[in-house]
Amino acid sequence: KLNEYADFLEAHALMAKFYRHLLLNTDEGGEALHYLHERGFTNEDIDRFQIGWSLPQNEFSLNVLQKRGFDPGRMEQAGLLLKNEETGHYYDRFRGRIMFPLQDEKGNVVGFSGRSIGDAQPKYLNSPETAIFHKSRLLYHFHAAKTAIKRQKQFILFEGFADVIAAVRAGFDQSVAVMGTSLTEEHIRMLKRTSEEAIICYDGDNAGVNAAFKAAQMLDKNGVTVNVTLLPDGLDPDEFIKRNGSESFTAYVKDASLTLMAFKMEYLKRGKNLRDESQKFRYIEDVLAEIASLKKAVERDHYLRRLAGEFSLSLQALQEQEKAFFLKKR
Ligand code: UTP
Ligand code: MN
Ligand code: MN
Ligand code: MN
Ligand code: MN
Repeated sequence: KLNEYADFLEAHALMAKFYRHLLLNTDEGGEALHYLHERGFTNEDIDRFQIGWSLPQNEFSLNVLQKRGFDPGRMEQAGLLLKNEETGHYYDRFRGRIMFPLQDEKGNVVGFSGRSIGDAQPKYLNSPETAIFHKSRLLYHFHAAKTAIKRQKQFILFEGFADVIAAVRAGFDQSVAVMGTSLTEEHIRMLKRTSEEAIICYDGDNAGVNAAFKAAQMLDKNGVTVNVTLLPDGLDPDEFIKRNGSESFTAYVKDASLTLMAFKMEYLKRGKNLRDESQKFRYIEDVLAEIASLKKAVERDHYLRRLAGEFSLSLQALQEQEKAFFLKKR
């Protein structure tokens, strides 16, 4: 079946090479290269992630592809070109964007995500769903990360691929990212084949924390052990590393990651004023319900004690109330 789309793969490999050349070796790529350097991307990053630049022209990719004998209609299906329905002319989908090749599990380039360096919307323009590119199955950097994931017996999941690139620079080769979608069952199936231990390191803003909560629950439900790194000040990992350095990030991931239950306790606090009595009791009930769903008695005991300590409550009262939840669940 893939054979049928060999030209799709070939065209993507070819364009990745061209985009890279434009970024690194031409005057037209200068502004983009400067942008990347300013953001802290090194030339080594650019090499490793095959980052490139698409010219702000309508027919650059079209011409390259046609010269190499690729059929424009096929290349529209491959997601590299668009068609003007009025004139019937084909033109480039990616124009004036920093090009991040998206590789499948085997390392084939199957799509691109192009970042604008100005105000052009969207910020990231992605390849459409094609015969070779499926967002719900693609994990950025998974192909290259697999060995490290197996060695470290752990994968680190990020929201954005700028984060993956920064994390790899900081020494975390076991880093992968979803492509701007929620984590899917298919992603989890792929990941579980390499390791059943996850660290989720999403953006520290509200959207990121909410997405982390969802991803954590899905992974947990699928039997993956989850830890969560909550970054301060609404920063995303890339920004955190730029501001505080790689060592600080490493310390954060290694020492400040929360167990799933500890993360849930933090998460349930958000938006609540715990000095308000009714909100406080509501919080305690929510946490007790979560504690009741833990399988291990030792863990239930551990978090009950933590909760008791936090609110100066008697352990006995909490145990009694937790038991009610516990019995309801079984
Ligand atoms: P973010 O908005 O957090 O982007 O979206 P980012 O990764 O921090 O990117 P920079 O640092 O601004 O360059 C997270 C992910 O959501 C997807 C991308 O995959 C991005 O990495 N996304 C975001 C899109 O697909 N399109 C968009 O317009 C924005
Ligand atoms: Mn520069
Ligand atoms: Mn974000
Ligand atoms: Mn981000
Ligand atoms: Mn970012």
